[in-house]
Amino acid sequence: MVLTNNPFDEKNKIREKILDLLRRKKEYVSQDQIIRHLGIPRQELWQHINELKDSGCEIQAVPHLGYRLDSLPDRLFCFAVEEKLNTKFVGRKIYYLERCSSTMDIALKLASGNPLEGTIVLAEAQTKGRGRLGRHWVSPKYKGLYFTLILKPRIPPARTAVLTFLAAVSVCEAVKAVTGFRASIKWPNDVLINNKKCAGILTEIEAEPDLVKFVFIGIGLNVNNESQELLKGAISLKSAGAGQQKFSRIEILQEVLRRIEDNYLFLQKNGSAAILDKWKKLNVTLGKRVKISSARDQLEGEALDIDADGGLLVRSDSGKIRKFMSGDVVHLR
Ligand code: BTN
Repeated sequence: MVLTNNPFDEKNKIREKILDLLRRKKEYVSQDQIIRHLGIPRQELWQHINELKDSGCEIQAVPHLGYRLDSLPDRLFCFAVEEKLNTKFVGRKIYYLERCSSTMDIALKLASGNPLEGTIVLAEAQTKGRGRLGRHWVSPKYKGLYFTLILKPRIPPARTAVLTFLAAVSVCEAVKAVTGFRASIKWPNDVLINNKKCAGILTEIEAEPDLVKFVFIGIGLNVNNESQELLKGAISLKSAGAGQQKFSRIEILQEVLRRIEDNYLFLQKNGSAAILDKWKKLNVTLGKRVKISSARDQLEGEALDIDADGGLLVRSDSGKIRKFMSGDVVHLR
């Protein structure tokens, strides 16, 4: 494959630069011009061009004229994501991978180099995508969005749950803005369309006892998966529409990043309660009879509310109210 799974691979960057140059010029660009621009030998340019063609880029080569880019495949190239993104810090630094084990793993490794706040690790496919409660996140190539955002909020570790809620709210807002579908949230952060899961969020942290160093927010969103490729209870944006319309992953990603940045600034200005209010307006768990299974036990009862930390308050049939910070919820009615 063209783009390797090494985030520090120079080849990756050079190929993106070639595409960016050709894309901007829109006309033929001579070999000499590209070579001068990138400072690489002619032989190396030929290799890059061949490999770009292999990955689905339509590039015309005409002797004495040079190369012209006719079309790009449906890929999350950094230059395409960055263009028109218009955020201040979220998504301003992108590590793009054809495939990786999990974007969470890569983000965790990057943390040792103190990455900028807002950095994202973005992959076309994951071989070991992980979900909450030790589950696997199915991540087929070029079908969905799989990325991890690195944030550096100055908050104690116990306060990080609100960022997961913020991410779920942002995904719902972005889905609505781009597709028109009304997405909702099942506690804590499953994004649903027509009661089926289209996106999931996994948050991990690196922290000292009193202060968070990094929050890693992993988002998986089913975009163009066919219905038959999805697990039971899952949905993609494509399969949600009557016309089975394909959506631009880039457009959705950009909108999710914009919404996260807006909501993050909103959180800093207005506090957690303001984000939790937004979450409550989008959630479909509160008020329902639920069965909740946590690592320790199971309980059936009414989902009453979430508290300031994002914990779910459930009233059992005996009238006792219990708080759950994690767990799996089934809506009973
Ligand atoms: C869940 O609902 O269980 C959470 C799923 C989170 C999946 C995303 S995909 C990008 C990031 N990398 C992972 O390995 N997981 C998260």
